[in-house]
Order: sequence, then C-alpha cells, then structure tokens
Amino acid sequence: MVIKGCIFDLDGVIVDTAKYHYQSWKRLAAELGFDFNEEVNERLKGISRMDSLNIVLSEGGVIVSEEEKVDLCFMKNEWYKEYIVDLDESELLPGVKKFIEQLRKDKIKIGLGSASRNAKSIIKGIGIDHLFEVMIDGNDVQKSKPDPEVFLRGSTGLNLDPKNIIVFEDSRKGLEAAISAEFIPVGVGIPELLPEANFHIQSFENLSIKQIITHLAK
Ligand code: BG6
Ligand code: MG
Repeated sequence: MVIKGCIFDLDGVIVDTAKYHYQSWKRLAAELGFDFNEEVNERLKGISRMDSLNIVLSEGGVIVSEEEKVDLCFMKNEWYKEYIVDLDESELLPGVKKFIEQLRKDKIKIGLGSASRNAKSIIKGIGIDHLFEVMIDGNDVQKSKPDPEVFLRGSTGLNLDPKNIIVFEDSRKGLEAAISAEFIPVGVGIPELLPEANFHIQSFENLSIKQIITHLAK
C-alpha cells in the first residue's frame, strides 16, 4: 500500500462544527413544532443541506412546498452561520493541524472533500487554506455523498489514483462514497457508528501516518 495523498472531510473531522449543524436543525424542528434527536442527526452527517432537510421534515411528518423547502434551508443556514461567525483555530479538532502539517512534510498531498457549501469559507476563516492542494465542497458537485463525486474531483485535483489516497470521514455516507470509488477509508469516530470502515481513529492527537499504514496493512 502506497499512500500519496489524504482527503479530509470537514465537519466532524477537521473542525468541531457537526454540533452547530445539529443545533441549527434542532432549532428548525422546534420552529416547526417537533423534537429532533441525536439519533436522527447521525443520518444527516455527510449529506447535503436539502437532503438533510428532507429527512428532518419526514421525521416530523411535515409536508411543505419546494419553495418553502428553499426558505427553510436558507433559515437553517443563517442560524448555522451565526454559530460559526467567530470560528477560529480553537475549533480545530485535537491534533488535526499538526497531523496535516506532518503529512505535508512527508510529501503527501492534501485535499478537502466536504458536502458543505460553507466549507471553503470555514477553512479560509480559520486560516488553514494554505495546507490544502485542492478543496472540493458542496458548491463543486452535482451529486452528494454517498456518491463519490466529491472525492473523485479531489483525486483528479491531486492528480492521484484513489487507491493511493486515504479518505478521513466521520459519516457513514462519506465512507460509503470513498469505498465505492476504491479510496482507502478511515473512520473518524466510534466503530459501532461507522460499520463501513475497517479501520477507525478516535482522534488525530499523537497519531502518525505510519501507525495508520501499519494498521491498514494488517
Ligand atoms: C456536511 C455535514 O459536511 O455538510 C452535514 O456533515 C451538512 O451535516 C452538510 O448538512 C451540508 O452543509 P452546509 O454547510 O452546506 O449546509
Ligand atoms: Mg463530516
């Protein structure tokens, strides 16, 4: 196994923003008169804003027109942007910046592969955009995860074969996407919640690419 590149999902992998998406959806559900819990939220990870809204609405048994859906997505995103307006380096997940910096020193190419339309502004806002050779987000793709488009555009941008790229993902849909296009998947989180991956990490703290390669080779 030769690792030449790594593609990182954003929410829940690089930054601790998954909680703000959750809070915004919970607030929307409350406005619409129903409760929304973490179990349902797990299914929203990795998918687009509109796909998420459709799940939220069906959970609440709420039917609205397509125009209203656009308005609800807009409202959710306005709340989400309020949460992330002051986002800074402190929201980076432990160890991830150091891990990426070490990869760059090891001449491993770095990409971003996120469903979020806010991804690039978050990365730039935190001031870590210089670490990425390519950034693909929800604005660049036609199909959202589990379709592999976001990662395939990333591998094209890195000029590498998927089989030489590790994808770090905290969502089942994202892992499915990576696997379907033959990237090397690494689950970021609890194995029980991410059964698609064979190998998981809980954090990037004190982690080296060598350790990951050793585990993956087993
Ligand atoms: C993904 C998140 O990264 O981006 C989802 O896991 C989110 O929870 C999706 O809904 C879309 O994000 P945004 O910022 O375009 O609403
Ligand atoms: Mg994620």
